[in-house]
Amino acid sequence: MNFLSLLESKRDGAVLSEAQLQSIIAATVAGEIPDYQLSAFLMAIYFRGLIPQETRTLTLAMRDSGEVLSFPDDGRPVVDKHSTGGVGDKVSLPLAPLLACLGFRVPMISGRGLGITGGTLDKLESIPGFRTNHSRENIVEIVQNVGCCIVAQSEKMVPADKKLYALRDVTATVPSIPLITASILSKKLAEGLDALVLDVKWGRAAFMQRKNDARELLKVIVGLGNACGTPTQAFLSDMNSPLGRTAGNWLEVVETISLLETRRIEDIPTGQDQDLCFNVIECAARLLVMTKKVVDLSDAKNKATEVLFSGAPRQKWNEMLVAQGADLAAFEAKLRAPSPVYETEICAEQSGVVRDVDARIIGEIVRDLGGGRLEANSILNLEVGFLQMKKWGEPIEKGEPLALLRAENEAAANAVLERARAAWEIGTEASGIAPSQEEI
Ligand code: URA
Repeated sequence: MNFLSLLESKRDGAVLSEAQLQSIIAATVAGEIPDYQLSAFLMAIYFRGLIPQETRTLTLAMRDSGEVLSFPDDGRPVVDKHSTGGVGDKVSLPLAPLLACLGFRVPMISGRGLGITGGTLDKLESIPGFRTNHSRENIVEIVQNVGCCIVAQSEKMVPADKKLYALRDVTATVPSIPLITASILSKKLAEGLDALVLDVKWGRAAFMQRKNDARELLKVIVGLGNACGTPTQAFLSDMNSPLGRTAGNWLEVVETISLLETRRIEDIPTGQDQDLCFNVIECAARLLVMTKKVVDLSDAKNKATEVLFSGAPRQKWNEMLVAQGADLAAFEAKLRAPSPVYETEICAEQSGVVRDVDARIIGEIVRDLGGGRLEANSILNLEVGFLQMKKWGEPIEKGEPLALLRAENEAAANAVLERARAAWEIGTEASGIAPSQEEI
């Protein structure tokens, strides 16, 4: 292969053939293309884009660059969800056991946090003994026996994305819709799914800050997922404010358990507090409809709600933990133990109503406290973050806590306290629109 001439073609806006793109991916995985040429190729795609046929070929070639999962046909559909990520986005944690209880198999391959966006694997690693690295055989066994697992992508799965994503990260070529589409879908399609639902976030703490860009990404991913033979649906959701009332790895696990231990949706206090469970129910309901387990979306939401609050997903969560090596007794003890790190209140300086909570500031503080990564190999403090966060539209009295903050020690907490307080805007009445979820 003469890579230089392919590079020139893409630079000049030519459409590459299926054979050309396949040979580029094969050569990428074989380590035959120097990083400087691959980087230039990614930049050419960033500026020139790809036509739908090229994106499809690239996605499938990336999917097939390594091991793919396959499951015996036992009548239970294999499904997953993907979120483009955000602050306080812990949806995968309650969703995986809920889906298993709804009769699905869920081989959820998740990622780590980078920057202000939390990562599901980091959250789970705050659980004593929990292991995220499993072989393909092990993943299939856990999914067959338990119904769900949440694991890391093995070295052998989608190696093309590993290589290309690492280069994109350092060459300013991440925000390219065809490259994002190929990256996300190649990994999801390698799970051998019968249906996929995507939560595409927009807003100041999202990957796509503008709603129109998120909508464009959504349309491309949904179109391609379906064109590749995997029924795919998506919805847009707001990531201007944090999801739920916690942000920080262990604290999000605690919030998950509290959701899974709630028995009635009415026991979740306010409309705004229900954002987490609405998102979980939305994902589950769409998968029920896509796999034809339920015909109508509103019946599917009722079904998902009933099972979510039945207690069964809490049991299933324990089964998943045990299958993935967790020490259940140590986990339950940790749930009841006092905070192992310093905890303080962030108090309101005036009375009024919460008009806004800035998820970007919250995410940056969690990261700066050691709960997120500044670089790929940063060591995390999984205990730090925010809990009991006040949400949009809630009344607040002067001196009352807007949230609790957990930090490594008092000095670390004091260093971020003012910035944390500024994440909340308080006025005489709630402004703008409540954080919303939009159907597509
Ligand atoms: N997440 C991915 O997995 N890939 C991208 O390109 C962007 C977000």
